[in-house]
Amino acid sequence: MPKDYNISVIPGDGTGPEVVAEGIKVLKTVSEKFGFSLNFNHYDLGGEHYMASGEILPDNTLDLLSKTDAIYLGAIGHPDVKPGILEKGILLKLRFYFDQYINLRPVKLYEGVQTPIKGKGPEDIDFVVVRENTEGLYAGAGGCLKRGTPDEVAIQESINTRKGVERCIRYAFECCRKRNKRKKLTLCGKTNVLTFAFDLWERAFNEVGEEYPDIETDYAHVDAICMWMVKNPEWFDVIVTDNMFGDIITDLGAMIQGGMGIAAGANINPEGISMFEPIGGSAPKYTGKQIINPIAAISSAQIMLETLGESTASSLIEEGVIKVLRDDLKDVAAGKMGYTTQEVGDLVADYIVGN
Ligand code: IPM
Ligand code: MN
Repeated sequence: MPKDYNISVIPGDGTGPEVVAEGIKVLKTVSEKFGFSLNFNHYDLGGEHYMASGEILPDNTLDLLSKTDAIYLGAIGHPDVKPGILEKGILLKLRFYFDQYINLRPVKLYEGVQTPIKGKGPEDIDFVVVRENTEGLYAGAGGCLKRGTPDEVAIQESINTRKGVERCIRYAFECCRKRNKRKKLTLCGKTNVLTFAFDLWERAFNEVGEEYPDIETDYAHVDAICMWMVKNPEWFDVIVTDNMFGDIITDLGAMIQGGMGIAAGANINPEGISMFEPIGGSAPKYTGKQIINPIAAISSAQIMLETLGESTASSLIEEGVIKVLRDDLKDVAAGKMGYTTQEVGDLVADYIVGN
């Protein structure tokens, strides 16, 4: 029976709406081809809406989002709003509210895309970062005392629960098995300094690892992993790490795969409602210029279909992305695609129609 999905769309700030429009164009094209239907409901959240109404993310919006199958988000962050208000009030709130405990970020260099790493090609750069997405330094634990005085104290603690860490690690092992590539899972931590938090991580990693004898395990400190990601990216298959380290290393990952315009991401609750977003920001100064590469948003939509169980449709989107990056776009990494944002969306949609 053909399926019917309700997708909540939060285009958000800056160039978010432009890239999301292309993702939706591609989703509509592929759903028509495969005979399932996607109903898109747009929510006007973000900096402009906040400044006009004072509203960040109302409870009734959360209720409405709870009734949908997935959330598709563009970008959150506005230059005229104090940092933290929108990021914490919308993006992190959604990740936490829906308990999207996995932040999945593929780092894949597609053919035709330039990497800044000399001598490395698509066969060398193909791994996935599984970032814990609901705990760590992002949990908001801490506070400040005597703010603005010479006696000021600021404390920001990293929360690591056995349950939260273990479910993330288990997901990473499963992901590694499913990928069926190098079958290697690397834990990225800082066991030499963060001897409480990463002791817990390491023990959970070793214990869960016993259930996966087919997966090779490895460990790297976060600073060293930044070095290896540049020097020997071919060593990695799946990397699992905490929220903060995952945030940092995936920006590095985005650069070695050709830039933010390529880097897709997904905030996943395997048992609930997931949210799909390109990892790049709102790029305010490029708003409305139609120069941002929508491939990251299109690939995020592709992961959404995969997660919803529409694997054939998802694969066709990836084929389109592969073709367009290989044959059509010019110097993507340098930000010179040779096409507008809309034209790139058209190229992927045309591929889907014709194949
Ligand atoms: C990301 C972003 C967010 C994060 C910000 C905007 C809160 O950098 O999705 O990586 O730190 O998680
Ligand atoms: Mn980030």
